[in-house]
Amino acid sequence: MDFQLSDEQQLLRETARRFSRDEMAPVAGHYDQSGEFPREIIRKAWELGLVSTCIPEENGGLGLPILDQCLIVEELSWGCSGMTTSMMANDLGLMPIVVGGNDDQKKRWLNRAADDFQIVAFALSEPEAGSDVAGMQLHAERQGEEYVLNGTKCWITNGGEADFYTVFATTDRSSRHKGICAFVVDRAAPGLEPGKKEDKMGQRASDTRVIHFDDVRVPVADRLGEEGEGFAIAMQTLDRTRPPIGALATGISQRALDEALDYTGQRKAFGGPINNFQGVQFILADMAKDLEAGRLLTLQSAWMVDQSSNASKYSSFAKCFATDTAMRVTTDAVQLFGGNGYTKEYPVEKLMRDAKLMQIYEGTNQIQRVVIARELMRD
Ligand code: CAA
Repeated sequence: MDFQLSDEQQLLRETARRFSRDEMAPVAGHYDQSGEFPREIIRKAWELGLVSTCIPEENGGLGLPILDQCLIVEELSWGCSGMTTSMMANDLGLMPIVVGGNDDQKKRWLNRAADDFQIVAFALSEPEAGSDVAGMQLHAERQGEEYVLNGTKCWITNGGEADFYTVFATTDRSSRHKGICAFVVDRAAPGLEPGKKEDKMGQRASDTRVIHFDDVRVPVADRLGEEGEGFAIAMQTLDRTRPPIGALATGISQRALDEALDYTGQRKAFGGPINNFQGVQFILADMAKDLEAGRLLTLQSAWMVDQSSNASKYSSFAKCFATDTAMRVTTDAVQLFGGNGYTKEYPVEKLMRDAKLMQIYEGTNQIQRVVIARELMRD
C-alpha cells in the first residue's frame, strides 16, 4: 500500500490549492452575502482544468479518476464550498452521460462541455420525491420520436445557470424505479423554466432552484440508455459523485482547523494564548484526527470506485463520515472562537452553515446509512 501521490497528482493539487487561495477565498465572503453566482470564477477554474474533469479524453476532456477529482475538490472547498458545489455539480450533471450515454450522445454533449465553457445540472429530486427517487412524478410521455416532459424538479444545483440538464422522468409512475428514464435536455427547450433562486442558510454562492417542465419536447435520441434504465444510471452516478462530497466536506474541515489553530494561538486569556490550555488542545486534536480519518476514507472510497463498479457502500461511508465530521469540526471551531465565532466578522460561522448542507444533499446521511446497511445485510 502506497500513500504517496504521483507527481501529476501533486501538481494537480498544487494548482487547485493556489486557485482556491488566490481566486476563491478572498471573495468567498462577498458571494456568501450577496448570493451572486460566481460564473467568472467557475470559468477560470474550468480553463485551468479543475472543472468537468470526468469528461473522457476521447471526448476532449481530462478523464480524471475520481481520486484525482477528490484531490482537486478538497483544495477548492477550502476556499469556498458554495462555489465548489457549483463546480462539482457540473461533473454530477455530466456523469449520467459518461455512465449511460452512447457514442453519439457523448460526442454531442460531452464534447460540447469540453470545448466550450458550459454549466450543467443534474435534475433528480422533486417536491414529493427527495430520498425516494423511485417515487418521482415528472412524467415522460412518448409521442413518436419525442418524449413530452411535464412536472417539477427541485433543489437543482446550477438550476438557473445551466446550459443543459440531465433529467430523470418516469413513463409509468406505478412501475416505480422500473419506469424511470434519463434524458439530456437543452436549456433552450421551450417549456423548461427555472423558478426563483432558493434563499439558503449556507453555500449561498451555489444556485439552487425549482425547474418547471411544461410540455418540454425531448428527442428520443437524447434518452440515455433504454426506457427503465434511468434509475440505475442515477444510482451509478451518485456512487461516483459521493466520494467528492467527502472531499468537499474535508476541505471545509481543514479550513475550520486552520482558522482555529490561528485564532487560538493569538487569542489571549488568563495571561497567555488560549491554546496553552489542554481543554483547547484536546478540541484541536480531535478536530485534526477526525478530519484526517474522513480524508483517508474519502480517498479510499474514491480509489474503490475507480477500481470497481460495485463500491456503493464505500461511497456512502465517505459521504456520511466526512460530512458528519465537517459538521462537528466546524461547530467546534465556532466554539473555540467564542462570541467572535458567532459573528460574520470571522470566517467560521460561514463554515458551519456551509457544512450543514453536506449532511443533506447527494442523499441525506440517513440514506447513506440505508445504502450501507442494505449492502452489509446482502453481503
Ligand atoms: N447501482 C446500480 N443499480 C442499483 C444501485 C446502484 N448503486 N442501487 C440500486 N440499484 C438497483 C437495485 O439493484 C434494484 O435493481 P432491480 O430492479 O434489479 O431489483 C433497483 O436499482 C432498485 O433499487 P432499490 O430497491 O434499492 O431502490 P429503492 O427505491 O429502495 O431506493 C435509495 C434506494 C438508496 C433509497 C435511493 O432512492 C437513493 O439513493 N435515494 C437518495 C437520493 C439522492 O441521493 N438524491 C440526491 C440528489 S442529487 C443532489 O443532491 C445534488 C446536489 O444538488 C448537489
